[in-house]
Amino acid sequence: MSQTPWIAPPGLEGVVVADTSIADVDGAAGRLTYRGRSIEEVVRDFRFEELVPWLVTGRRSAPLRPDIRPLPAGPWPARPMAALGAVLLQLEAEWPDDVEAACRLIVGLPIMFGRVVGKGSLPGGDGRSSVAGQYLALVTGRVPTPAQVRALDAYWVMAAEHSLNASTFAVRIAASTGARLPLALAAGVGVLSGPLHGGAPEGVLDLLDQVARRPDDPEAVVRAKLDAGERLMGFGHRVYRTVDPRARALRDVFQELAGEEPWAALAARTEAAALRLLGERHPERPLATNVEFYAAAVLKAVGIPRELCPATFALARTAGWTAHWWEQRREGRLIRPLGRYRPA
Ligand code: ACO
Repeated sequence: MSQTPWIAPPGLEGVVVADTSIADVDGAAGRLTYRGRSIEEVVRDFRFEELVPWLVTGRRSAPLRPDIRPLPAGPWPARPMAALGAVLLQLEAEWPDDVEAACRLIVGLPIMFGRVVGKGSLPGGDGRSSVAGQYLALVTGRVPTPAQVRALDAYWVMAAEHSLNASTFAVRIAASTGARLPLALAAGVGVLSGPLHGGAPEGVLDLLDQVARRPDDPEAVVRAKLDAGERLMGFGHRVYRTVDPRARALRDVFQELAGEEPWAALAARTEAAALRLLGERHPERPLATNVEFYAAAVLKAVGIPRELCPATFALARTAGWTAHWWEQRREGRLIRPLGRYRPA
């Protein structure tokens, strides 16, 4: 006997699709925890090299030494997100099954990717500095300051995991079919490449550039965008109905790093104008600052080129994706929803 299928709402909004013990996103309270610890505490206590194994296994260990494999000289795809996907595909054949070995590759991924897209020589990239420091040296071609390294590391810890967002769901779908981890991660990269998910920092930087040309009136710039039917990148979230806690924490990181620079004040005035106008236009739906607004500001302040922002986010998120891949594999059930046929 066939059962009447249940029809999920558009965008699966409000639908729980998995039990997870990796992170909890409390959208009403604006709280994020990783394995039971608040994001503020995790940022204070973990570097990226420590975060990856803890997030994946739940066990705290010493910082992992990155596993860095030699990669061909190229050619690599010109677009950074495609290049990151290609690096994962390149590593596929030799990807280890062991969890700690896989985590060491995840920790090494920023350095391998940095070598592919970076500026050639490797100042500070001698293997003694942190992965964030080596990545910054590779992609900027300069030795970063300790404050810049700390800021990127804090960003990576904050961006590493966010429960069942679109890209993580894609990774879990891949895991449920038995797909190997590097190919599941490549699926995550593809989904994160969309402007409504991981592509927002470039839009935020465009907005700040436009405001910089009319610094006396950020509100006019924001209003013009909304009047043209554009979405303001860096605002709104499917789950948070109040400020995204990562935006709050990254604002502090940004203020510490670039608080004195003129464009820091400009960013703050732009945020205030955007919140005011979004509040006016959508009184029914709180549209607050999301992680991408201050992520863009931090990435600009540490010198990450604009076109590398989404990939720099993806490098952090590989940690969360890996944790979900393992969790989904233990669950073991193929994810296979239905479609409803409706003749055109
Ligand atoms: N700017 C202007 N209007 C917005 C924005 C925004 N940033 N976000 C939502 N709205 C409006 C929509 O136009 C819509 O208005 P309408 O009902 O008059 O058509 C209403 O608010 C509801 O929007 P939805 O798309 O239903 O909200 P949803 O929950 O799907 O949106 C999303 C979440 C996609 C993040 C959205 O807020 C958005 O597009 N933001 C900008 C892109 C962005 O910053 N993405 C990064 C998200 S964080 C991350 O992925 C790591």
